[in-house]
Amino acid sequence: MSEKKIYGIIGHPVKHSLSPAMHNAAFKAEKINAEYQLFDIHPDEPDGFANFCYETDLNNISGLSITMPYKELALEYLDHIDPVAKMIGSVNTIMNEDSQLIGYNTDSLGAIEAIKEKTTLKHKRVLVMGAGGAARAIGYGLKEFGAEVSIFNRTIEKAIELANELKVNSIDYRDIPKEDFDIIINTTPVGSFPNSNESLLHAAQLEGVEVVMDIITNPIETQLIKEAKKTGAHIITGERMLLMQACRQFEIWFNKKAPKDVMEKALYEKLGSV
Ligand code: ATR
Repeated sequence: MSEKKIYGIIGHPVKHSLSPAMHNAAFKAEKINAEYQLFDIHPDEPDGFANFCYETDLNNISGLSITMPYKELALEYLDHIDPVAKMIGSVNTIMNEDSQLIGYNTDSLGAIEAIKEKTTLKHKRVLVMGAGGAARAIGYGLKEFGAEVSIFNRTIEKAIELANELKVNSIDYRDIPKEDFDIIINTTPVGSFPNSNESLLHAAQLEGVEVVMDIITNPIETQLIKEAKKTGAHIITGERMLLMQACRQFEIWFNKKAPKDVMEKALYEKLGSV
């Protein structure tokens, strides 16, 4: 039998990550001799992330998921960067191929696939709330799939900067959107634990919106999602994007179709138990 391969998620904190449940279930179902582990590297640890990357071979690591706060930093320690990840400026997946580290970004496609479960994107007017790394990845994907994107952010300068980069519109945070949007996506941490009762928009501002999506996974049903439910909008909660991006990671690592049903079941079982 071949030597057991190691995969894992690197970030801080990673204790509550839902990724091990999904990937370990996939390995089992596909009879892959591998284990997916947690690698918690505190950002205060000097060169912690850099050393970890240099030692991937020593640690027998075949692939990594990258999460906060290392998605941008990871670009510096790779031998090759997939063009999409380079364009987005962040990496959430690393493949160790014969000691060469190759970086990818599956967040963008993961978000698009989560939206496509509920609606189409071409010519849809989409409001992206936030202008950080997640907004950049999602905004890039939305544009690729023909949506008309507007960025809305607390710090308007950052909204303008990202909008210019993606060649889309920006909206002043103080102007609660007056335009009509088909899809609204929250990429900010507003509404995440422990401030779970906060929401950037309320039901009255969501009237007529077709789909409201939140990428937060703690909690799954954020206040924004609760507000959206009051209007009858379709909702997309954060674990859908998490599942889709994990499936794409599996496909990068193993060059075969991900067992999505198995990963989905493991994800919801884990969510049910936390
Ligand atoms: P990520 O890389 O995960 O997207 P980030 O780069 O920290 O995270 O971006 C967080 C985004 O959420 C930013 O756009 C931030 O707005 P600012 O640019 O004004 O900082 C936004 N954000 C964070 N906390 C917020 C809050 N309390 N209200 C509104 N927006 C907030």
